[in-house]
Amino acid sequence: MKKIIVFLSTKYFFLGIIVSLLSGGIFLLALNIMEKKNEAKHSNFIIKEIGDLEDDPKVWGESFPQQYEDYLKTVDQVRTKHGGSEALPQMPTKNDPRVQVSQSKLEEDHRLVTMWLGYAFSKDFREERGHAYMLEDQIYTGRQSVPQPGTCLNCHASTYKAMVVLGDGNLNKGFEALNKLPYHEAVKNVKHPVSCIDCHNPKDMSLRVTRPGFIEGIAEYKKTVGVHNYDVNKMATRQEMRTFVCAQCHVEYYFKGEDKRLTFPWHKGLKADEILSYYEDVKFKDWVHKTTGANMLKAQHPEFEMWSQGTHAKAGVSCTDCHMPYKRVGAKKYSDHHVRSPMLNINRACQTCHNVSENELMDRVVTIQDRHIQMRDMALNTLMELIKAIDVAQKNGVAKEKLDKAREFHRKASFLVDFVEAENSTGFHAPQEAARVLMMSLDYSRKGIESL
Ligand code: HEC
Ligand code: HEC
Ligand code: HEC
Ligand code: HEC
Ligand code: HEC
Repeated sequence: MKKIIVFLSTKYFFLGIIVSLLSGGIFLLALNIMEKKNEAKHSNFIIKEIGDLEDDPKVWGESFPQQYEDYLKTVDQVRTKHGGSEALPQMPTKNDPRVQVSQSKLEEDHRLVTMWLGYAFSKDFREERGHAYMLEDQIYTGRQSVPQPGTCLNCHASTYKAMVVLGDGNLNKGFEALNKLPYHEAVKNVKHPVSCIDCHNPKDMSLRVTRPGFIEGIAEYKKTVGVHNYDVNKMATRQEMRTFVCAQCHVEYYFKGEDKRLTFPWHKGLKADEILSYYEDVKFKDWVHKTTGANMLKAQHPEFEMWSQGTHAKAGVSCTDCHMPYKRVGAKKYSDHHVRSPMLNINRACQTCHNVSENELMDRVVTIQDRHIQMRDMALNTLMELIKAIDVAQKNGVAKEKLDKAREFHRKASFLVDFVEAENSTGFHAPQEAARVLMMSLDYSRKGIESL
């Protein structure tokens, strides 16, 4: 009997331990879930009130350390097969104190120098790198050897505060004032590269567009599809905003008139040939080509325009989905503020939607890009032939009317191949559209050569 009691008590003793261990475990688990729920609920919780004009990302970082930490990582430089950038050491000088720059695209491809002869781009043009460098790279580029307007700053600094202050509380007035200033004057009004305040409303962290150039440009574009009085900050969906905050800067642009107003040429549409047609209507030129005397246009980073023509845009996939994908820390979901090439982050950038291996995805991208480069080379080489043909014709005293016609073809062919070259995804954002634009360029070059 005694034995049985001992047996039972030891049995209950162990059972008791097991039960208490289990319930303790469940309790801890419940606690953990509650904590995580709270964390998730408070992931947008502003710990310290952020002022309406707070452009220092460090202050925002006190409430949002994870986003701030990732934002700081945009200093990283890593090369992918066709993107990213390489960190090259540089001897600092008085005029250019940078100790590290990215590779020169002009040295990599001399045809670009020929394409832009007579323009500042033929002096210095580098691979783009992370957001952390945008202000210093603009201040110290060799292209500053030509006097530049304050307009340049729209996409290279945190300008929201500067504009509101310059415009006495009126963003638009400040935009106009900043554009008109000479660059070296304008730059005194800014302190940081693109910052939290440029994409977020400090009251509730919602996304917002702060650039008048985009607010006006997208309203012009909307007219072409029958929507009038479009107000992006009131009418865009959240998913659209996840693209529009990037499209404030990653777009083709020009400086309009004496006031150097930043203008996005979308009055006839977003496609390369629609933009070209707008420039023809307003008779705009960026410079005169040194060899051929043609009135030239320079295209710049039309990522938004090219993306708009691709499969992903049709499927509603935003810039943010691939370039700032969600990451998980504990139960919290963050948008990765380390904006960079998705090829460095395929797992989170692509595999959330594509159920194939990383290698397979990498291979698909590189295949598109390699084919793209082959086509681009054909278009660029034919452009080089046209420039040479006009040069020879000028030296041989060919009639002016004939030369002018060839120069018209030169202007068009150059803008279209440049549009594709300047787009930074090497064809990925819209492969077929890029091919179509290259074909048009090649066709203009061929017609130009024939016209002589
Ligand atoms: C479906 C995914 C996807 C979407 C959506 C997307 N991109 Fe990309 N983007 C890529 C890939 C892939 C590359 C090529 C990167 C490489 O070659 O390393 C790229 C390249 C770039 C680059 C050059 C990066 C580098 O490191 O060289 C920029 C800038 C860029 N995209 C901006 C944008 C903008 C702005 C949008 C929205 C208008 C956008 N992207 C939409 C996938 C995407
Ligand atoms: C509409 C926005 C916008 C404006 C205005 C703008 N940039 Fe940029 N800039 C960008 C973007 C986006 C990139 C990164 C993509 C690229 O390099 O193609 C960039 C890259 C650069 C770079 C680094 C790569 C290179 O080209 O060597 C320099 C330097 C630069 N810009 C200088 C200027 C100057 C000078 C002006 C004024 C004449 C200017 N930017 C006006 C958006 C803009
Ligand atoms: C205020 C203008 C501005 C905004 C807004 C902006 N960018 Fe950029 N972006 C730039 C400039 C300028 C550079 C090039 C900086 C340099 O080379 O010094 C750049 C570089 C990049 C790069 C190249 C990074 C690398 O490491 O090679 C990517 C990718 C990119 N931007 C994507 C985006 C995406 C996605 C968004 C929206 C979430 C966005 N950008 C919003 C101006 C902007
Ligand atoms: C170039 C634009 C851009 C800049 C600059 C930027 N963000 Fe964001 N941020 C985004 C986008 C896009 C999202 C996703 C929002 C959505 O899906 O509604 C986001 C989301 C967030 C969120 C919501 C939670 C999350 O991670 O999805 C917080 C908080 C946040 N950002 C904080 C910051 C802070 C702090 C800074 C400055 C250090 C900053 N952001 C700079 C574009 C930006
Ligand atoms: C949010 C979801 C989503 C993300 C993120 C995404 N994709 Fe896609 N992708 C799609 C959809 C949807 C399609 C179109 C499929 C269809 O219509 O058949 C597509 C199509 C494609 C195609 C075929 C392209 C074409 O022009 O037809 C390729 C290649 C591709 N994706 C690669 C990538 C890569 C690489 C990444 C990461 C950089 C990526 N995708 C990120 C949803 C996504």
